[in-house]
Amino acid sequence: MKFSSLLEVCNSAREGGYAVPAINVVDENSLRAVVDAAQECKSAVILQLSVKTVRQWGLQQITSAAENASAGVSVPVVLHLDHCPDIDLCKEVIDAGWSSVLMDVSALPDEQVEPVLSEICSYAHERGATVEIEVENILGVEDGVGTDEVLRSCTVDELVDIAKRTGADLLAPQLGTAHGLYKSDPVLQPERAGEFAARTDIPIVLHGGTGLSDADFATFIEAGVSKINISTDLKVAYIEAAQRFVTENFDPSCGSIGIDSWKSKEPLALIQAQHDAVRDMAKRYMRIFQSEGRA
Ligand code: 13P
Repeated sequence: MKFSSLLEVCNSAREGGYAVPAINVVDENSLRAVVDAAQECKSAVILQLSVKTVRQWGLQQITSAAENASAGVSVPVVLHLDHCPDIDLCKEVIDAGWSSVLMDVSALPDEQVEPVLSEICSYAHERGATVEIEVENILGVEDGVGTDEVLRSCTVDELVDIAKRTGADLLAPQLGTAHGLYKSDPVLQPERAGEFAARTDIPIVLHGGTGLSDADFATFIEAGVSKINISTDLKVAYIEAAQRFVTENFDPSCGSIGIDSWKSKEPLALIQAQHDAVRDMAKRYMRIFQSEGRA
């Protein structure tokens, strides 16, 4: 397999008392920036893609981009499909050589949850891949998947039992976080993460990382979380870098919106600025999650 195992990097993180950043990249530029951050920080990294991103670029093209970016890199790079309610797409990315998938069964009727999870876990394991599961829904909408309504709630024991019965490798439970920017302070549940960690060795995943404080992350990591998802912050870094570039390079005194109004007429400089902003954002999380220097 060209990519590292999600389960192995998360098990190492749990043993080492740190978490691995799982960063939702949107294209080849951001994907390279995150891999560059991992290499510079000597950190494992999880390149995560939404279903929407895979559909926009096409599976083959984005897989090749990830392979090229991680070729020759000395740190573990995991390629992971985020929140996927479509079992056929999960199988397709596993066939394409991805490390892992998040099978999202939160919107399925109860009687379909375990059969679908068992099917994808067997399929993945036969091919050396790993499955993260979402049974309760993480609140918020991410790239068109999800909702602000609670669809299902389980007890800690129920979720651990479902994971054990179906062969799931990682658990993404509701821990008080949500996708996107917080409109009010979330009621975080690190103690719930601790209850999972006390009952099972299955790595615990924290979704909705954007907007939490360094102290919040430290508390969750201490409680046993070993994969932390960041998406919105990448989008902010990517778009703000473009906005800064425009502000710094547009010369309104030229009075037109043609190419002569730009101090820099070099698209590569804009692409580089976005790369650097995303790389620096990723490096910051590697430091906060204490994965820096561990790979
Ligand atoms: P944020 O968009 O809040 O960073 O959440 C990311 C996430 O959980 C992706 O699955």
